[in-house]
Amino acid sequence: MEKFDFSNAKFLNAVIDRVVQLWSPPTDDMAFRRLYVEAIIRQNAADNDMQFQLSENGELCSIALASRLGEHTPWYIWWQEKFDALPEEYRKMFSISREYLSMMDEKTYRYMNKDDVKLSLFVSTKAGWGKPVLEGAMDFFRSKGFKNIYLWTDCECNVDWYVSRGYELVEEGTYEPFSTPEEPYKTFIFRKNL
Ligand SMILES: CC(C)(COP(=O)(O)OP(=O)(O)OC[C@H]1O[C@@H](n2cnc3c(N)ncnc32)[C@H](O)[C@@H]1OP(=O)(O)O)[C@@H](O)C(=O)NCCC(=O)NCCS
Repeated sequence: MEKFDFSNAKFLNAVIDRVVQLWSPPTDDMAFRRLYVEAIIRQNAADNDMQFQLSENGELCSIALASRLGEHTPWYIWWQEKFDALPEEYRKMFSISREYLSMMDEKTYRYMNKDDVKLSLFVSTKAGWGKPVLEGAMDFFRSKGFKNIYLWTDCECNVDWYVSRGYELVEEGTYEPFSTPEEPYKTFIFRKNL
């Protein structure tokens, strides 16, 4: 397993390409949509030894990024620079996303103990590569003595993947700012023993 390297622009772009269709707001401005999901990726990455990637023939295949309880990294310096350069119409969207991620992180941390780990970002850029990167990451967490893996996710993610693999649902909620009367925006916190 390799360490996910943010300075590898090709790999970072591969993750952005994969999630931009899933997680960005419905605007025609693709540059803003890409920036929006890059902010999500950066907010979920920690400066620790738990940022994993798998690649093959110079192409990224999957990533699994994790953090310890309450671990914070200075992603907000990058974030603030981008925010300051944004036109007014985009600033609110950019801020709401940051608040949402922080709020869900805090909710998840409330369930965790010091010997638990949080899966912060799990993405495969090639089908079938999600499972091996997460299994490799979980072997590493076990070897470090972690007891449980926690994660939060929502209706814009592959929620059924966790359900089908025996993750235990510990909390389900609705995030009102992203909900419409027709469609509640569902959030989920899952846990699994390591
Ligand atoms: C979640 C994710 C990382 C899984 O990676 P993946 O490469 O698709 O999945 P795997 O490595 O496990 O391999 C595919 C297997 O999972 C199965 N699978 C994929 N999605 C599934 C789902 N929603 N429910 C049940 N099984 C699923 C496939 O059918 C396949 O099964 P098989 O091994 O019996 O052939 C990937 O779907 C992804 O990147 N999604 C977008 C980002 C996301 O939602 N991330 C997670 C939440 S933050």
